[in-house]
Amino acid sequence: MKNRSLVSINDFSKEEYIKILDIAEEFEKQPKQKILDSYVVATLFFEPSTRTRLSFESAVNQLGGSVIGFSDASSSSVKKGESLKDTIKTVANYSDLIVMRHPLEGSARFASEVSNVPIINAGDGANQHPTQCLLDLYSIRKTQGKLDDLHIAFVGDLKYGRTVHSNVIALTNFNCTFHFVSPTELKLPSAVKRHIKDKNLKYYQYTDLSEVIPTVDILYMTRIQRERFSDPMDYEKVKNSYILNKEMLNGCKDNLKVLHPLPRVNEINEDVDDMKEAYYFQQALNGVYVRQALMAAILGVK
Ligand code: CP
Repeated sequence: MKNRSLVSINDFSKEEYIKILDIAEEFEKQPKQKILDSYVVATLFFEPSTRTRLSFESAVNQLGGSVIGFSDASSSSVKKGESLKDTIKTVANYSDLIVMRHPLEGSARFASEVSNVPIINAGDGANQHPTQCLLDLYSIRKTQGKLDDLHIAFVGDLKYGRTVHSNVIALTNFNCTFHFVSPTELKLPSAVKRHIKDKNLKYYQYTDLSEVIPTVDILYMTRIQRERFSDPMDYEKVKNSYILNKEMLNGCKDNLKVLHPLPRVNEINEDVDDMKEAYYFQQALNGVYVRQALMAAILGVK
């Protein structure tokens, strides 16, 4: 993985995912190690973020590295009309690794083609969010003891939810059965379903959340991505399609865990937060260890 970019979850193999998860386990036991003290990581966020940016920055800081970057492109020379190409080529001169979130699908791939340091895609529009995927795999393996042969439900905005796209593609390597719950307008794109069909795996589609709860090992809730809708009225129609509450989890499997990439809007009532099934805040913490592992592998120090 040394010196490679991570733009799509397909850029790494199943064996490489597992290697990252194994290294992340080491960091979970010992997150403070001064192994990046000669490295500079740039975080360029052209879209808002709490978890992804701050967990990357926390990960670097805990490993003794330095962080430069911006959390608001309007404070950079993008505001004066500088192109993405020129921004990336410039920041690559100042850093060893660039973590970038951008609203345009394909922007991370483009950045990886013009940069002379590796690019980690921290989310490109509705396309992919591969580091969220890796921390989700870590969370699934940690709570279920395995990644294979699980029943996994993805609920909510499966059309625009980039975390879902990356997760589905990665999980086709592990013989999972997929349960997709969404409004008709927000079904999983055919291009993502194609990965499931290519592996001859099973998937089922629903509009009613209650149908999947007794069956699944992982209930992966997602936010309806308001910022991706061109017509606000279309968002209004679907915005509260699924709201998980405590009572709805009656009859779920004993091992069920509720995941959510966060931020949540209304998808999970706060009465779920104290249940043993709620795992979303621990999931966000796991992001630090997984991002430490990923950066250490790409920078060649692990
Ligand atoms: N899960 C996730 O990407 O969260 P942020 O948008 O807060 O980074």
